[in-house]
Amino acid sequence: MSYTPEMRELIKRVDATRSKRLGHDFPRMTPKERIEALEKFHPDYIESGFRALKVGVNKGDKVPQELADYIEARSRIENIEIDLDEIAYDVDVLIAGGGGAGAAAALMAQEEGASVLLTTKLRFGDANTIMAQGGIQAADKQNDSPAIHYLDVMGGGRFANIPELVRALVNDAPLVIKWLEDLGAMFDKDEKGTMLTIHGGGTSRKRMHAARDYTGAEIMRTLRDEVRNRGIEVIEFSPVVELILDEDGRAAGAVLYNLETEEYLVVRAKTVIFAMGGSGRLHYQGFPTTNHYGATGDGLVIGYRAGAKLAFMDTIQYHPTGAAYPPQILGLLVTEKVRGLGATPLNINGEQFCHHLETRDVESAAIIRECKERKLGVPTPNGIVGVWLDSPLIEKIHGEGTIKRQLPAMLRQFSRFNIDIRKEPMLIYPTLHYQNGGILINEHGETNIENFFVAGENSGGVHGRNRLMGNSLLDILVFGRRAGAFAARKSKDVKLKSLTLAHVQKYHRELEENGVDTGGRVSPLILPRYRHREANA
Ligand code: FUM
Repeated sequence: MSYTPEMRELIKRVDATRSKRLGHDFPRMTPKERIEALEKFHPDYIESGFRALKVGVNKGDKVPQELADYIEARSRIENIEIDLDEIAYDVDVLIAGGGGAGAAAALMAQEEGASVLLTTKLRFGDANTIMAQGGIQAADKQNDSPAIHYLDVMGGGRFANIPELVRALVNDAPLVIKWLEDLGAMFDKDEKGTMLTIHGGGTSRKRMHAARDYTGAEIMRTLRDEVRNRGIEVIEFSPVVELILDEDGRAAGAVLYNLETEEYLVVRAKTVIFAMGGSGRLHYQGFPTTNHYGATGDGLVIGYRAGAKLAFMDTIQYHPTGAAYPPQILGLLVTEKVRGLGATPLNINGEQFCHHLETRDVESAAIIRECKERKLGVPTPNGIVGVWLDSPLIEKIHGEGTIKRQLPAMLRQFSRFNIDIRKEPMLIYPTLHYQNGGILINEHGETNIENFFVAGENSGGVHGRNRLMGNSLLDILVFGRRAGAFAARKSKDVKLKSLTLAHVQKYHRELEENGVDTGGRVSPLILPRYRHREANA
């Protein structure tokens, strides 16, 4: 579905202001203006979107309503007979999650000499990693340093980030890029072989490394091939549905659910790493999402039930540039690389209303304000209102052919609907992209439960209250690698005691004692409930 004649008429206003915007930098907001925009327009400040948990280690802390529903639910295995003596797999390190963090953890754990099992809900590689587009940050240029990267991360996270985690993130970054290259990942380079790097929102140096606009796919391809080539055991379509502890309360394995045979399997493991990703498919506050189909927050729910502490779950990332038109791709990612290359956000009059490289939280708030308060958004036939992102400006800045070279996936995504982003702007609106928080970890990926590790989007603390672009691909690799190596080393000294699921009954009792009406809900969710929603419509 290409743009309607009415929309094409409005695009003329964008065309009319383009040459004026070329070479003219729109002023950035002052810190005060940023706070004002966030408090008034960012969804994190809508109180009704959150509620305080009634049970567990974070009792009293606010999390999104939709997540609270699944945290305050009964276990999927409540009425299933699980024989903990019937052990299907017995390993040093069990890794749950087949995205980038899980794969990186598996490679490092195996290098440390551990026996490793990786289990995943869907196919190996079906995860948010493979959908990541714009790039991965690393301070490996002469005008940059991990210290400068550190300041950017802290500023982006509104200085709430846990310093030790940020230190680990930025210090390991150059090493991670080298590791990926050594494994065969192909990043964009100039004719001399120097890495091409650009800005992202909130970066003070150009440190975004990319593989065109399918960076995550390139990284996932590399890691998955390596895991396969090294013969690491991988089980697909078998999500973890409950953590198993030993009688000393240490992580000791997990219950898997085979989606094909509908069997439950017991894995005993000396250490367990969750790399189960995010929760975008819970569609917080009704937002569409960029996220993978499996992103249902299972790792948060299962970890919490076993006693793992959550951090920053009251802050969610809405990516400023989700597709708002055509409706077939509503909410899908328009990579921040588009803004990184210079495309500017514009209202219905073709006027720019904020700098194109504000941090994501601020840029999203400004877009929401333009549409909701100032009523200067662009209407679409399906009732969605958005703002323009002037992609043709990129070709004016960097020369003809830049979009085809640097944004081939974007070009293809829109050309399927007869929209040529080299000539026409994209229509965008914020979309649910990322959970800034998760299960609290330290710099080794350890949680407050002994022998239980978490890495990637499933974990919390490193990004504070807002993550910068390109620090997610970095996070999954830095903490995936760290958790894998550390868990493997730790497993050498672990002597497991008897396995137990007593924490599940204890959690159910706590729900009852606190009068929580679980409304028949069971968790983890495993797959989104779109059919259910329609049935109730
Ligand atoms: O916009 C993007 O390409 C997304 C990148 C990220 O979330 O880091």
